[in-house]
Amino acid sequence: MTAVIIDGKAVAEQVRQDWKVRADALKAKGILPGLAVIIVGDNPASRVYVRNKVKACHDLGLHSELIELPDDTTEEMLLSRITHLNENPDIHGILVQLPLPEQIDVDKVLETISPEKDVDGFHLYNLGALVVGNTVFPPCTPFGVMAMLKHINAEISGKNAVVVGRSNIVGKPMALMLLQESATVSICTSRTQDLAFYTKIADILVVATGKAQMISGDMVKPGAIVIDVGINRTDDGKLVGDVDFDSVKEVAGYITPVPGGVGPMTITMLVANTIMAAEAMHGNDD
Ligand code: GUN
Repeated sequence: MTAVIIDGKAVAEQVRQDWKVRADALKAKGILPGLAVIIVGDNPASRVYVRNKVKACHDLGLHSELIELPDDTTEEMLLSRITHLNENPDIHGILVQLPLPEQIDVDKVLETISPEKDVDGFHLYNLGALVVGNTVFPPCTPFGVMAMLKHINAEISGKNAVVVGRSNIVGKPMALMLLQESATVSICTSRTQDLAFYTKIADILVVATGKAQMISGDMVKPGAIVIDVGINRTDDGKLVGDVDFDSVKEVAGYITPVPGGVGPMTITMLVANTIMAAEAMHGNDD
């Protein structure tokens, strides 16, 4: 079997058009959804990510602000910037790019962002809402994965879903979202004994470990949907996922490529959350 490759760019473009309709409806009422993106320091990968986030907003005609702060920014300075943005009516979404320099307490930063503007969905309030199945802002990467699964009409209810990786950004919220759709969910970690036992029972396999090409074809159930959240650079400069694409595509039913898979979806869902934040703040039912 050769898997169907899910073209993340094409799916993202389609999803974006749906959200554009909602953004345009707000604009017709004089409301311009706005996103503020804060980056502290000069991590090159983070810089590329934030530029893409701001560009995605711009492409859809939304307002966006990129706030670049130096590496030696104090926690107090950052919290003060966030507090001002919380009070700024032109800004509906606030995102602080992670990781942050070590002098800054990430938890404090995430809890300072107003839950109504927390378009990353990382505030404890929004994570709690996700646990009880009442989410307002689903974290963007797992939200993007769910949109991809929807796009291919994947059956989730009753299926075995296995998430490899337990980060707060991807693994944990991903598992909760699949659970909300009535999948039987397993979360594997770096300590999991016999990882292949779990991956081989997965009808839906989501891999988010940051370990290049760690899932090979012999670890995958024939016909499975394999979603690769990883993005790693090899010694020769090539971008690869956490999944060994060449061997897994011979076994899986569907597979996402890297690059061009989950990445474009993450950014699209950030734009979606920003539009949802603006709708929630101004009402969208008149
Ligand atoms: N760093 C890596 N992924 C993310 C993300 O989704 N949001 C933020 N804020 N930082 C990140």
